[in-house]
Amino acid sequence: MRAAAPDLEYQPATPDDAPFAADVDSAVHPQRPRDPVVYRYWWSQPDEYMEFARFVVTRGRRPIGVADWSHPRWQVQPERYGTAGCEIVPAERSRTTLDAATAAMEARVVAEGARILRAWSNEDDPLRTEMLLARGYVEDRRSKRWELDLIANRDRLLAMTDASRGRMRSEGVRLLTLADDGDPAAVEKIWRLSEEAGDDVPTTVPRVPEAMESYVRWLAAPEIHKDRFWIARIGDDIVGVSVLAYPPVRGIVGTEWTATARSTRGRGVARALKCETLAQAIALGVDRVRTGNDAANAPILHINETMGYRQIAGSIQYLKPV
Ligand SMILES: CC(C)(COP(=O)(O)OP(=O)(O)OC[C@H]1O[C@@H](n2cnc3c(N)ncnc32)[C@H](O)[C@@H]1OP(=O)(O)O)[C@@H](O)C(=O)NCCC(=O)NCCS
Repeated sequence: MRAAAPDLEYQPATPDDAPFAADVDSAVHPQRPRDPVVYRYWWSQPDEYMEFARFVVTRGRRPIGVADWSHPRWQVQPERYGTAGCEIVPAERSRTTLDAATAAMEARVVAEGARILRAWSNEDDPLRTEMLLARGYVEDRRSKRWELDLIANRDRLLAMTDASRGRMRSEGVRLLTLADDGDPAAVEKIWRLSEEAGDDVPTTVPRVPEAMESYVRWLAAPEIHKDRFWIARIGDDIVGVSVLAYPPVRGIVGTEWTATARSTRGRGVARALKCETLAQAIALGVDRVRTGNDAANAPILHINETMGYRQIAGSIQYLKPV
């Protein structure tokens, strides 16, 4: 039997509410702390291809959580996938409150025209998983998450970095950071490379394109540093990128994106770039880093395993036709 829907209300949120959202997410999942400055930055940005709305969930006048819906503009994704999400502070977090806030966001995104609903849970979040299954969601696919102990693996990683540097030299591949790269077209090249590689990430939901402006916004984000943004070059071409995000206030350093050009795959470029990001993190005194990837992405799974990453709780994507 489902409990009666609680008396929740949904107030439109602004970037000023982003630190509260980061606090809620961090309180619910202390093992994955979230950064308030990073949240505020991203909550302040537009998107060329996505529609979205965010809310503060209140009970009485008290804020008890956050909720959101989003969907790609339908012209770039005719299949019409829409996302409904929410998080509720630990003291109020129950099947009932999660269910009510999810239902409220589903109704809004369906009213926007969504035909298939999409939601996520984590392997260490049985409450949300049970709620989604009870709402009729069906598991679609999983993403693995990984953590790498930079202290225990230091010597092995630095030896791998040395070997990778030698291989790249002999292959004519230059590894450098964006801060050391003078090419005014670098962002455009990274965008084109990433759009190409983005199509090769295993997915059920068709990938939504990204505008070059979204890469400009990404490079300006508080967790991204141009002198920690690693690229691989063959002549004028940028053939690979790997980037760790460094949350400025709280959170664990983690890979944002690793990609190589189709024309250079299998030559060790991704491993070499990841090694540079890790050697730099070690030099900066970082003790561990995280990464995540689709559970069907064989090459990056292989790289992560052989670099010494250990699996931690992953995420689960669910779908539900409207
Ligand atoms: C994942 C990706 C970055 C790998 O780039 P790459 O330059 O080919 O990587 P490398 O050459 O450094 O290493 C690939 C490794 O995976 C192995 N590999 C390749 N295909 C594999 C497969 N199907 N199964 C298992 N291992 C595989 C290679 O043998 C190599 O292993 P080795 O280093 O032990 O020899 C690239 O395929 C890509 O850009 N994919 C799309 C974007 C993406 O998925 N990014 C990942 C994070 S979301």
